[in-house]
Amino acid sequence: MESITITSTFTVYPSVNDLPEDVAALLQQAINVRLNAYAPYSRFHVGAALLLDNGKIVIGSNQENAAYPSGLCAERVAIFHAGAVYPDAKILKMAITAASEQRVVSEPIPPCGGCRQSIAEYELKQDEPIEIWFMGETGPVYKSESLRNLLPMVFGGKDL
Ligand code: THU
Repeated sequence: MESITITSTFTVYPSVNDLPEDVAALLQQAINVRLNAYAPYSRFHVGAALLLDNGKIVIGSNQENAAYPSGLCAERVAIFHAGAVYPDAKILKMAITAASEQRVVSEPIPPCGGCRQSIAEYELKQDEPIEIWFMGETGPVYKSESLRNLLPMVFGGKDL
């Protein structure tokens, strides 16, 4: 019997003060848009900001719904927004931040499984990695060089 081992590596930055300038600016946009989250049910606020290869920044925050599954995560709001407005642009980086009304989120919050699958679609489409930078409200920031670290055995169009 054979086995397959998959390892993922993330870079840890102790705080926002340790980030490269362009990423700190992108994360600041994510923090700003996090304040626009519509999260009356979970009271968990998420912001995401994308840097595109045309220099544009596209943002999104989570938008909930009384019919829970009809809401959408911040990452998908942002990435679908980018696809709708700049369909030919490549996504270079995504910065994510999360905060709760119930506790201080001091650990990095990674994108959920559904968002990973959605981001993977765009990474496969553009055939270039998307850097994913994620944090809580405070504390360390994790960097993934590619979405593939978060979703190593990806399902894509090639599988159909
Ligand atoms: N949420 C996001 O926006 N992104 C994630 O990756 C995880 C979860 C949102 C969805 C919902 O509005 C709230 O956080 C609680 O799950």
